[in-house]
Amino acid sequence: MIKVVILGSGNVGTHLFKVFKNNSQINITQWYSRNIKDINQYSKSVKTTDKIKDLDDADLYILAVNDDSIHELSALLPFKNRLVCHTSGSKSINELNKNNRAAVFYPLQTFSKDNELDFTKIPLCLETENSEDMITLKSIVKNLGCKYYEIDSNQREKLHLAAVFVNNFTNHMFTIAKTITDDSSIDFNILKPLISETVNKIYKLDPIDAQTGPAVRGDDKTINKHIQDLKSKEHRELYRLVTSLINNLDNEKL
Ligand SMILES: NC(=O)c1ccc[n+]([C@@H]2O[C@H](COP(=O)([O-])OP(=O)(O)OC[C@H]3O[C@@H](n4cnc5c(N)ncnc54)[C@H](OP(=O)(O)O)[C@@H]3O)[C@@H](O)[C@H]2O)c1
Repeated sequence: MIKVVILGSGNVGTHLFKVFKNNSQINITQWYSRNIKDINQYSKSVKTTDKIKDLDDADLYILAVNDDSIHELSALLPFKNRLVCHTSGSKSINELNKNNRAAVFYPLQTFSKDNELDFTKIPLCLETENSEDMITLKSIVKNLGCKYYEIDSNQREKLHLAAVFVNNFTNHMFTIAKTITDDSSIDFNILKPLISETVNKIYKLDPIDAQTGPAVRGDDKTINKHIQDLKSKEHRELYRLVTSLINNLDNEKL
């Protein structure tokens, strides 16, 4: 049984708590949050604390806190030479204080507290300072039934950059699309099968081969009408820029 302490009660901390709690090979010895009221409701199933000085003994401490707080919180841990990881895609393993053995346990997925997720489908990106600690992280991942990848801090930084495009920027495109449908009293749900198929295609085709639409067809009259119809200057600029990027890529292919 692997003993784990979770620090942080945000999106990732809460998901890790739920999935570890249901795993017979992982024992959450404690859950730390500086806002104890966030985790009080779970205090019957796990020991909770808001005092960093009271942290229990464990095989692994997971800092599921804001990127900018990782360094500061890791320096406050009241012990030495224990295995401590963060869960960030964008922060280096060196962000963790050198008093302890540093590691990274980065789940490549988008987490919102109240949105259930199937952990077996989440790739885990692992990094440790020494090979023995990698064995501990791998055994957690295997118990969860996830795939894992050994990825160093430089690679993870690039992966996170790619993830911003596929997730954050794509989601913002959905937000823009919803303002357009809302403005014309159209139910946004009508776009959902198209959204699903756009994503499903990527499992079968390279993204460049999956591209359709007026930009790739060179339908300039349609493109100009779309630009005219957009209300905001920024959205018109965005439309022009993405259209020209699609065009350029298509020309490079020829
Ligand atoms: N959300 C995602 O989709 C996702 C995916 C993969 C990886 N990650 C990574 O996972 C980490 C956590 O992200 P999240 O989305 O769970 O963030 P979040 O929902 O904003 O939660 C952050 C948690 O950190 C706590 N915290 C912040 N500063 C602290 C400090 N100085 N001392 C103690 N606790 C502190 C916050 O406490 P308060 O409530 O008191 O502020 C909160 O419990 C980040 O490194 C992020 O990059 C996130």
